[in-house]
Amino acid sequence: MFKPIFALAASALALASACAYGAPAQGPILIKFAHVVADNTPKGQGALLFKKLVEERLGGKVIVEVYPNSTLFGDANELEALIKNEVQLLAPSLAKFENYTNKLQVFDLPFLFDDLDAVNRFQKRAKGRQLLRSMEDHNIVGLAYWHNGMKQLSATKALQSPADANGLKFRIQPSTVLDAQFKQLGATPIVMPFAEVFDALKDGTVQGAENPWSNIHSKQLHTVQPYITETNHGVLDYMLVSNSRFWYTIPHLIRTELEGIIDTVTYEVNRQAEAANQADRERIAAASGTQVIVLSEEQRDAWRKAMQPVWQQYEGAIGADVIKAAQTVNRNQRD
Ligand code: LMR
Repeated sequence: MFKPIFALAASALALASACAYGAPAQGPILIKFAHVVADNTPKGQGALLFKKLVEERLGGKVIVEVYPNSTLFGDANELEALIKNEVQLLAPSLAKFENYTNKLQVFDLPFLFDDLDAVNRFQKRAKGRQLLRSMEDHNIVGLAYWHNGMKQLSATKALQSPADANGLKFRIQPSTVLDAQFKQLGATPIVMPFAEVFDALKDGTVQGAENPWSNIHSKQLHTVQPYITETNHGVLDYMLVSNSRFWYTIPHLIRTELEGIIDTVTYEVNRQAEAANQADRERIAAASGTQVIVLSEEQRDAWRKAMQPVWQQYEGAIGADVIKAAQTVNRNQRD
């Protein structure tokens, strides 16, 4: 005899929760997708393709609004906004999750991955996929990894050897691994939101930065950085994330369709990211006023030796098992 009351209470709860998390009883589900880069980048293109495919396949049931260039939320507040369900999709760089998990710090370790293909292999393996679930205690669910590319070092002076970075200020993403990496060089790292980087380089608040070619070109950072050293010393990739409670409140059939769309978009973003970065590299190399410095193997080894001690500092926090799993994806494994 209590059953109907329980059933009523349960459906009232489900309805309340669905309404609170963006799946109203009637009307379309609104997904706000905010990010900090330009449209003409791998992530920017991915966000737009997601919107397009949702319109085609789920028109009327789901509406996607894309906010690029930190126009809705920026680095300082986007993850808190996601947790509060003020935005439903983000794709922050893997360097920006440190407040929620230490495991993803593995992606910031310098010279861990030989190239983007190695990063890709790691992300597809069990250890890499487990990391998508590493923030569920914080109500953050990882839906996919999206590539951008390998990072290069830019500065107001030519960085040939690690000693050249000594004494310079570098803008970094909010990652203690990246902080340690620049301190290894005798440089001063300064955490700063992406939206402020161009002005900070221009006015001399910092003299250098690390970015993939696509971020350098789309934000015209090379116009205020006369030297870019092709170090490929680390990776800047993303995790597409949602608010777990929002995500799992979406009706099953719609969520399945959304997950299929995410698979398609992920495939496209990851297939095109390397080529997009190489095209931007060529544009930058052709631009007057910027010199791209190509390192010899010996020179690159010197950067590796200078930065690699960071691995040991973070092995405890990240887990030796995760680092080992990441190392084994390189074609020429190094210890
Ligand atoms: C950065 O802050 O440099 C990057 O994480 C920006 C981005 O989203 O690519």
